[in-house]
Amino acid sequence: MQEPRPVRYSQTTITELMIPSYANFGGKIHGGTLLSLMDKVAYATASKHAGAYCVTVTVDRVEFLHPVEVGELVSLHASVNYVGRTSLVVGIRVESQNIKTGKVLHTNSSFFTMVAKGDDDKPTQVPELVLESKEDVKRFIEAMWLKEIRGGIRDKMDDAKSHFEVENAHEILKDQRCKIVFKLP
Ligand SMILES: CC(C)(COP(=O)(O)OP(=O)(O)OC[C@H]1O[C@@H](n2cnc3c(N)ncnc32)[C@H](O)[C@@H]1OP(=O)(O)O)[C@@H](O)C(=O)NCCC(=O)NCCS
Repeated sequence: MQEPRPVRYSQTTITELMIPSYANFGGKIHGGTLLSLMDKVAYATASKHAGAYCVTVTVDRVEFLHPVEVGELVSLHASVNYVGRTSLVVGIRVESQNIKTGKVLHTNSSFFTMVAKGDDDKPTQVPELVLESKEDVKRFIEAMWLKEIRGGIRDKMDDAKSHFEVENAHEILKDQRCKIVFKLP
């Protein structure tokens, strides 16, 4: 079994210049460009901790708080917040910096759940996480709670779907901005 590893062992920052080919028609950076960079830094961080290749399983709450402009520097700061048996949660904070003014904006944060794979392509155990600060402990517990809450939401959704009857759609959708244009059974 591998030795436990502290959070700092795998902490990773990627900084990239936003070039014109990353922009959409409105001149702002594509959300997909940022997501791709986030996936890259999550992969690097998780794989470093695991000492194995990892795959992305889920991405939690990506909110774009500010648009990113061409010519800005985008930095992605990532660290392992939580480890399970074979899975890890990587927290990512994305910041953009205007090169001329130096102004830094927090553009988004997210949590990527990654799973380490062995040479047989099956999930493999990851080293324990050594928590060296209050911040490490807080992040670990928050990730643990988020995992539990997500499980609860999934169960509630499965339950709601199992009780759903399409005949009730008119009632369910009565305050929504949509129209049913066919005859329901
Ligand atoms: C993710 C994957 C490895 C899970 O395989 P599996 O046979 O279901 O494995 P397990 O049931 O043993 O689960 C492995 C771990 O993944 C976690 N996991 C599985 N599905 C999950 C989900 N939807 N959300 C969060 N965690 C999940 C499990 O909790 C477990 O974590 P733990 O060992 O820390 O307790 C598999 O589904 C896979 O390879 N998916 C494709 C991933 C991929 O290609 N990503 C995009 C490109 S990188």
